[in-house]
Amino acid sequence: MLNSFASRRFGVAGILVAASLAAFATPGSQAQTIAGLPKGTDFALDARERPRQILKSEAEGGRQSYMVALGNAAFSSPMLFGEKAKEAGLSCDTCHRQGDINTRFFIPGISAHRGGLDPTNGFFNPVQDDGVANHVDIPSLRGIRFLAPYGRDGRIGSLREFARHVIVNEFAGPEPEPRVLDALVAYMDQIDFLPNAKLNRLGRLVSSADPAAKRGEALFVKPFAGMDGKSCASCHVPESLFADGRRHDVGSDGLFKTPTLINAGLTAPYFHDGRYTSFLEVVEHFDRVFSLKLKPDETEDLVAYLDAVSAGEGSYEPVTRQTAMREVSTYVSVLDHAIEANDLAAIGLVVDTVNFDLNWIGWRFDTRAEFGGRLPADVPDIRVVSAQLIGDMSAIRDLARAGNRAAAKTALANYHARARTIVSNYPVGNLALPSR
Ligand code: HEC
Ligand code: HEC
Repeated sequence: MLNSFASRRFGVAGILVAASLAAFATPGSQAQTIAGLPKGTDFALDARERPRQILKSEAEGGRQSYMVALGNAAFSSPMLFGEKAKEAGLSCDTCHRQGDINTRFFIPGISAHRGGLDPTNGFFNPVQDDGVANHVDIPSLRGIRFLAPYGRDGRIGSLREFARHVIVNEFAGPEPEPRVLDALVAYMDQIDFLPNAKLNRLGRLVSSADPAAKRGEALFVKPFAGMDGKSCASCHVPESLFADGRRHDVGSDGLFKTPTLINAGLTAPYFHDGRYTSFLEVVEHFDRVFSLKLKPDETEDLVAYLDAVSAGEGSYEPVTRQTAMREVSTYVSVLDHAIEANDLAAIGLVVDTVNFDLNWIGWRFDTRAEFGGRLPADVPDIRVVSAQLIGDMSAIRDLARAGNRAAAKTALANYHARARTIVSNYPVGNLALPSR
């Protein structure tokens, strides 16, 4: 839990109706309250680090296409959802942070522990309430294009259908526009795994790997009588990203999809409900349920192997003004084409999402506390600048709606000029929240 120290040091208060700056309270207040959700709800809005995201096209030296950038914005937009979720400022990205997971995510009464929730809780959509508390951990979406069928229980065949299901059924949103679904899928299709130099392309350990892990690899592919002559690798197929696209009952209370083990070391706890905190507990589960009769050193070797195959390089990156503004500028990039094409739906979606994030940026990087509550004359007030940027964005939307394309373009240019001040005009280094 890389982020947990941040929650101890900084409280969060009050959030967040899009574009209402007042809804954000000052960092450092005690309780985190999120509109309409119980006290103790934690979306990790004050996190100092976030999962690193690798998008395929960027990794190949390109940039996010129009549809990918639009999908990226939609992924961070609470506007897709129904009233309750919208009011709370919940988006796909709240749970699947940067396409990975938010390990701190917690809603009292709905989450059994951090990092998950009961998706059929009846809170966001009463029609879905099944009256059973069935907590599910948030899965990472890294490599998700290879990991159909979808859902922990693999009940839905396509990413598109799953996204629609989340929006309409789980969060009571209106029927999404087909193009928004296409964009969400285009974005999710881009999310790659983090590299792991210990594995070759066939999912085998490279020769320089640790000897214990190599012994573990031999056990991983060894047939066990207790598993009907199958091996771990029969389901976690190394050359298929350690998955098989099928559902199995492995003694965890139902049929579940074989999860990939790639980058899994970054997404503890394990199993659909996060019942195990370590690979040791997982191996002990299989040993117990399938009578594998592992010797203690074999258990250790299997754990060493799981540690090796599940690693991921550069797993987290700092949350800074710069990284936050870079993210926002990706969404804004959609506007160039959208204004030209008079695509009001895309403009509306992007403006809402950008304003929502700017609102957060104004709160998250508020530097007044660092100067004893009063900013020196030469230090711009980030809350004021973000409020101005929100104004620029809203003007773009209004002008586009009024059919005034040229003026909308000018407003966009104003936005870009001002946005640069947030990235470059602050004397206090690479600001995360000040230390107390
Ligand atoms: C409140 C937290 C939360 C939000 C918001 C959320 N998800 Fe999820 N997501 C989950 C959980 C928990 C699961 C596992 C649920 C299950 O198995 O039914 C999941 C599963 C998924 C899966 C399947 C992953 C797999 O390995 O099969 C996809 C794809 C997905 N979500 C996409 C989205 C998209 C797109 C959005 C926004 C439209 C979204 N999610 C919003 C928590 C969330
Ligand atoms: C019959 C198919 C099958 C076999 C054989 C199998 N697994 Fe799994 N494995 C699964 C399924 C299904 C789950 C998910 C269970 C759940 O979500 O409750 C899982 C979960 C896991 C997880 C947790 C991953 C995560 O992100 O939560 C690990 C680690 C793991 N298995 C390792 C092993 C090892 C080691 C062996 C051999 C001793 C093994 N598996 C054998 C199907 C299998």
